[in-house]
Amino acid sequence: EGYFTFDPGFTSTAACESQITFIDGANGVLLHRGYPIEQLAEHSDYLETCYLLLYGELPTAEQKTEFVRTVHQHTMVHEQIRTFFNGFRRDAHPMAIMCGVVGALSAFYHDSTDISDQNHRTVAAYRLIAKMPTIAAMSYKFSIGQPFMYPDNSLDYSANFLHMMFGNPCEPSNISPVIARAMDKIFLLHADHEQNASTSTVRLAGSSQANPFACIAAGIAALWGPSHGGANEAVVKMLEEIGDVSNIDEYIARAKDKDDPFRLMGFGHRVYKNFDPRAKVMKQAADEVLAELGINDPMLDIAKRLEEIALEDAYFVDKKLYPNVDFYSGIILKALGIPTTMFTVIFAVGRTVGWIAHWNEMISGSYRIGRPRQLYTGYSERDFVTIDKR
Ligand code: CMC
Repeated sequence: EGYFTFDPGFTSTAACESQITFIDGANGVLLHRGYPIEQLAEHSDYLETCYLLLYGELPTAEQKTEFVRTVHQHTMVHEQIRTFFNGFRRDAHPMAIMCGVVGALSAFYHDSTDISDQNHRTVAAYRLIAKMPTIAAMSYKFSIGQPFMYPDNSLDYSANFLHMMFGNPCEPSNISPVIARAMDKIFLLHADHEQNASTSTVRLAGSSQANPFACIAAGIAALWGPSHGGANEAVVKMLEEIGDVSNIDEYIARAKDKDDPFRLMGFGHRVYKNFDPRAKVMKQAADEVLAELGINDPMLDIAKRLEEIALEDAYFVDKKLYPNVDFYSGIILKALGIPTTMFTVIFAVGRTVGWIAHWNEMISGSYRIGRPRQLYTGYSERDFVTIDKR
């Protein structure tokens, strides 16, 4: 008692055992249930990867059909949730809306909040995976003053999300398969990443036996910050601010200056001391998507040049700072017509399966309430001073 390991930021503390995702940061390896992310990105799709993360194995064709059918059944939200949105200001950030609405799901779906019942846990997982795109699109529609779109369950997961984002009741949405495939890849690349800040938050909240909807709302809050999921939005803002390849050196100098709080957004990672494998896939996808859509975005040129310069600069080389998943994702999302404020929301949609898979893994096994200790550095005991003597 009284002697603890002091590990701020948990750089060397394993808080749980897990069988879901493996990362080898030194070599830039990311495996989901043993399968390399590069292979999943090439051959799988988002919902199949969800199945893999949740159940541990790739589904058979029959299992996949059944899984997709069940998720599709849950895409609609309770009608009263629609009125819930009206309580927000129109200019609210969609992440603020997501935190509130997802937390509120526990008030609507009482038949999936008994965490001791595996059926409840499974239905909660399906509901969250299915409803996140609906809630995300509703957050966007609310912000631009357009009517909410009901999901169209004849569309696949990602096309349906785009339909709810960009369709309106007066005009049928016309979702290009190129765009839907790119969207799906982005969801897939964000599906899980072991014990990152948001997943650890979900586990910590879950360890008190809180219901899954409340736990995922906690995860969304943790994801929001620019050091985590908010980085994709910050990258695009940074690239816009740089504006031209000729200004890159100035920003590199700022990132290296200890007296300047500026950091190169989309660079560096707690675990990867090599290329983030997701960034490699993302970079290739950005090239493909822009070529397929015939878009020539100078932002991509700035990003590529920035990467080249940083990868040769002693500061970044010595500190092993490489592009992370957020570096190129914003460029693709922008090409797909997704507004910047929705970038982190999209990260949240993709990551939902990771959060719920980790939560379920914990609740299904043995666990204790998470309760870190501290090194107390405050006053030692002293006597109370009455107000007239202060
Ligand atoms: N630009 C400039 N310097 C950096 C950067 C950067 N992007 N990232 C780290 N450093 C420096 C930092 O100043 C520190 O230097 P020193 O040792 O001299 O004090 C050193 O590198 C180590 O940084 P740290 O902050 O101690 O590392 P961390 O593991 O605590 O933080 C990080 C990791 C991702 C928060 C950080 O690299 C960062 O702020 N990156 C920019 C934001 C970003 O892209 N976040 C997305 C992360 S990946 C996806 C996700 O999780 O959502």
